[in-house]
Amino acid sequence: MAQDDQFKKLIAHAKEYGYIFQSSEIYDGLSAVYDYGQMGVELKNNIKKYWWDAMVKMHENIVGIDAAIFMHPETWNASGHTSAFNDPLIDNKDSKKRYRADDLIEEHIQKYQNKIDKEVTKGRKKFGDDFDEKQFLETNPNVLRNKAKIDEIQGRLVKALEADDLNEIKQIILDCEIACPISGSKNWTDVRQFNLMFETQLGSVADGASKIYLRPETAQGIFVNYLNVQKTGRMKLPFGIAQIGKAFRNEIVARQFIFRMREFEQMEMQFFVKPGTEKEWFNHWKEVRMKWHKALGLPDEKYRFHEHDKLAHYANAAFDIEFEFPFGFKELEGIHSRTNFDLSQHQEFSGKKLQYFDPETKESFVPYVVETSIGLDRTFLTILSACLQDEEVKKENGESDTRVVFRIPPALAPIKLAVLPLVKKDGLPEKAREIIDELKFDFTCQYDEKDSIGRRYRRQDAIGTPYCITIDHQTLEDNTVTIRDRDTMEQERVQISELAKILDDKVSMKKLLKKIF
Ligand code: GAP
Repeated sequence: MAQDDQFKKLIAHAKEYGYIFQSSEIYDGLSAVYDYGQMGVELKNNIKKYWWDAMVKMHENIVGIDAAIFMHPETWNASGHTSAFNDPLIDNKDSKKRYRADDLIEEHIQKYQNKIDKEVTKGRKKFGDDFDEKQFLETNPNVLRNKAKIDEIQGRLVKALEADDLNEIKQIILDCEIACPISGSKNWTDVRQFNLMFETQLGSVADGASKIYLRPETAQGIFVNYLNVQKTGRMKLPFGIAQIGKAFRNEIVARQFIFRMREFEQMEMQFFVKPGTEKEWFNHWKEVRMKWHKALGLPDEKYRFHEHDKLAHYANAAFDIEFEFPFGFKELEGIHSRTNFDLSQHQEFSGKKLQYFDPETKESFVPYVVETSIGLDRTFLTILSACLQDEEVKKENGESDTRVVFRIPPALAPIKLAVLPLVKKDGLPEKAREIIDELKFDFTCQYDEKDSIGRRYRRQDAIGTPYCITIDHQTLEDNTVTIRDRDTMEQERVQISELAKILDDKVSMKKLLKKIF
């Protein structure tokens, strides 16, 4: 299936099974804003718990906070967001469509990369087991020509972005003969900078309202509370502060479903360290965060590190953890070494000392910070895109059929257990309710008695429920039920009294965390 169709199918599935709805859909929606439905909110809460437990519960020296979305406007002058949190935008005069100028160039670069990938595939086919990819990449003339083109354009782009040279960015677009995907024309406006922060007013206009912003990242709520937490928690370096919360960005081009939204959620952790130790901690957190992702059991090859060519205004080193979404490898999480930039800026703008007194050396200094910053919605999208599968299955009569199965990691699944009476009579529904009443304290259960048992299994497969138990007439005789595994579709007969233990073993967050710690 073409990637585009596959992505459309995934969006339709997310809606059909109550995961994600377009915001304000009855009014034709609001661009790049989404609502999470009855299943979506459960999956989202489970991802949050997995992150929070891994960061806060598993580390004695990391604590959490929940800061307000509104912050004093001076915060954003100090952090550099009012002056530097911009994207370069360009309009096509014929289609009137607006684009991020750097994205247009990146997409153009990707075309050369695709040509290289095609050459590699051809080479592999031609040489079979003798194919040496490294040597091929270093010597094949077509590869080298395309690689040189990539290096040249990328080099110009990085330089232009660093120098804030908007004329040069436009010139690259013209030199590369990039056309608007809608109109096909190369009739472009000049490139302009566009600040991504949403503004609003605090207080009524008559009272002399002041302009404030919806926070574009949660990190600043952590920086301004650094001293409060350090003092009240008697925290010693190195230590971290974690937070999960909403962030808002007026993205110029908001496409690709929940990948780039105007209102989204971040899970961020600022790790405060002694100056000079930041490189070591940076490497530490890079590894720990990758382990967290891979413990989920999605294919390992879908993750990779990407080092930033252009560093943000606050960073001295930065890597992304990228994931292979249906539209290619893209940023999922950022690991940034932010130096002492933010705390020093807040110290200067607020006039309050934000220093750490080291009892051993008797010195005071502004700590350095290593940040891990992951998008909750993008993590959701990794699961949606990697775990939703069409699978061929054999029916009892030998014919083949397809089923849609959402292989969500069991610990994150919205519903852990579906409890299904085989028929709606003979006391089976009552027995099913009895079992739910026992298990509901530890597991999210769903009762379903509608349709044939086969259809009910399929429905639970599509929702992503890892286990279904079926209550039949034998249950009334010997207190056993069948438990069906979503992934293998195998069924096993077990005692009702064993269910809690069996399930705990299969779906608990503890089991997931133990893969890391
Ligand atoms: N405090 C650092 C920071 O905010 P960032 O790379 O701009 O860094 C961190 O954002 C993460 O937040 C990204 O890796 C991504 O997962 C998520 N994110 C950023 N913008 C987003 C958007 N418009 N929609 C959804 N997620 C977004």
